[in-house]
Amino acid sequence: MFMRSMLFVPADSPRKIEKGLGSGADAIILDLEDSVAASAKEAARGIVRGVIADIAGRKADVLPRIYVRVNALDTGLTAGDLKALEGLKVDGIMLPKSEGAASVRRLSAMIGAIEPAEHRGETRITVVATESAKALFGLGSYESAGPRLEGLSWGAEDLRTDIGARDNRGADGRHTEPFRLARSLCLFGAVAAGVQPIDSVFPNFRDEAGLRLECDEALRDGFTGKLAIHPAQVPIINEMFTPSPEELARAQAIVDAFARAGDAGVIGLDGEMLDRPHLVHAQRLLARAGR
Ligand code: COA
Ligand code: MG
Repeated sequence: MFMRSMLFVPADSPRKIEKGLGSGADAIILDLEDSVAASAKEAARGIVRGVIADIAGRKADVLPRIYVRVNALDTGLTAGDLKALEGLKVDGIMLPKSEGAASVRRLSAMIGAIEPAEHRGETRITVVATESAKALFGLGSYESAGPRLEGLSWGAEDLRTDIGARDNRGADGRHTEPFRLARSLCLFGAVAAGVQPIDSVFPNFRDEAGLRLECDEALRDGFTGKLAIHPAQVPIINEMFTPSPEELARAQAIVDAFARAGDAGVIGLDGEMLDRPHLVHAQRLLARAGR
């Protein structure tokens, strides 16, 4: 399922969680990791459990998908975070500081132990896959991560700390070279694994023009969704990542033209040569729109 927008919501704030639920995001990520202080983590687990148990009774079509971001596998907190979800239906778990397919398989086994029997295997996983130098070298491995994996995203903040970079953006506000490499490798790693590439956060949440520019560059390059940190970013991301009626009509025309041409490898449409890559591109665009 394509997620245009995934909104981070600190899990220790019931007020923000309520706002997140009504934000229009395709998914909200109840965060137990970096946005929650160590002293508040236990309380946050309780809040998450309460919220998910509570919304089980609400109408699914007005709710975002619910993701929970657990603490990283090397913190010793992951199992306890998952334990708080035992027996509840959660759409997905976000794993920070993933180092490759092995991290996902480990998490997947842990999820299997707490998932309700009637929803066995349904909990999906999205990872943040670029948070250390080491993690970058695992980006080619996700094809063997197993069927739960549905998305790969990337992050520049923890990577910056890991490599000791003074900054991750230049004076023009755009990511500098090491972080652009991480972004590109995340895109390639996701596509190679057959999962959704999801662009990282744009932290400057009052800068709408900056967000639009970053969405546009992400779409240009092949990302199909973006993480958000503030509800105001959600409608912009949703708008930007929704294929326009013109794009959809063009994609449908290409698919129809190939269907009419039978088994043709190449066709002409409106004076343009179209071959297999164009067809696949059109099919993927229609799939993003659920067609
Ligand atoms: N999810 C849900 N609601 C949010 C929100 C979020 N991520 N960020 C802000 N809001 C709410 C605020 O609670 C506030 O609601 P209120 O007026 O009813 O109190 C409203 O939106 C406006 O917020 P604003 O005053 O503009 O921002 P802020 O100073 O309260 O919060 C942040 C700024 C950065 C602390 C906040 O956006 C946030 O917590 N973001 C998520 C951080 C996170 O999860 N990081 C981890 C991943 S990188
Ligand atoms: Mg982090």
